[in-house]
Amino acid sequence: MQQPPTFTHLLFENQDKGVWLATINRPDKLNALNPDVFKDLGELGAFLESKEHSIRCVVLTGAGAKAFAAGADIGPMAEMNSKLAEAFSRKAQEHLRTLEYCGVPVIAAVNGFAFGGGNEVAMACTLRYAADTAKFGQPEVKLGIIPGAGGHDRLIRLVGPGKARELILRPEIFWTAEQALAFGLVNGVFPAADLLTKVIEIAHEIATRPHLAITAAIDVMNEGQGGSPCEVMENEARRFGDLFNTVDAHEGLSAFLEKRQPSYIGA
Ligand code: COA
Repeated sequence: MQQPPTFTHLLFENQDKGVWLATINRPDKLNALNPDVFKDLGELGAFLESKEHSIRCVVLTGAGAKAFAAGADIGPMAEMNSKLAEAFSRKAQEHLRTLEYCGVPVIAAVNGFAFGGGNEVAMACTLRYAADTAKFGQPEVKLGIIPGAGGHDRLIRLVGPGKARELILRPEIFWTAEQALAFGLVNGVFPAADLLTKVIEIAHEIATRPHLAITAAIDVMNEGQGGSPCEVMENEARRFGDLFNTVDAHEGLSAFLEKRQPSYIGA
């Protein structure tokens, strides 16, 4: 087992029983996402993917009461030329894709503003829960730019093309947490004071499940986002079959038939 990497702007704390809390930690800048924050998120994803740990679920939130993340850091972006901006976009996409595909569920606890890149980070997570005070938006075109960290594609997939176009093309529009819930951007809304406790509870619930099945399900759903229905079915059947090589699948099925609680070993 390896220790988690040392991050620049990400706090990473053990919440016991396989659950860890990651906090984007730039509260004085409303957790604005500079290249180092994106790198931290990618390194977190790569560490989780490595399987050299016993982490079963991660909760990702923002430091302070105001923001999950108020977007990409506009300071460094203002200095970029076209080539650097394209490279920044590619890197941000790559880091968030690593996080999205790491195989360990990552749950966003959106505690405040999730604007621009902040919303793009939340959308790369496996599930999203929001404080009732949270606000969501993609205000990039107001600055003469567009989302560059996978936002167009993920937003269309989560809320549909009509709503996605409206959020991106009308940058004065911000969705409240309740609207985000109604449009399918988040999975649930909690009072701000309870958000972290509730999301950590959900993480603990997911962490008790046989993690090879959880990873296989995430993998099939991630692959399903881009593939044709036939490819998705093929991957699903393959991963379904793979699980029958695990002790846990036989344990789960037998335990049901024997009317007892399953005891999983993670293999
Ligand atoms: N990049 C860099 N710095 C940012 C930032 C961003 N995306 N968002 C906020 N900050 C900084 C502010 O510049 C300010 O820094 P300062 O204290 O050194 O001046 C600090 O965070 C607090 O922000 P402030 O604007 O004072 O807070 P507010 O509550 O009045 O407004 C927002 C909050 C989110 C409405 C406002 O900060 C904002 O519009 N941010 C940019 C959102 C955006 O366009 N995101 C997409 C970027 S591509």
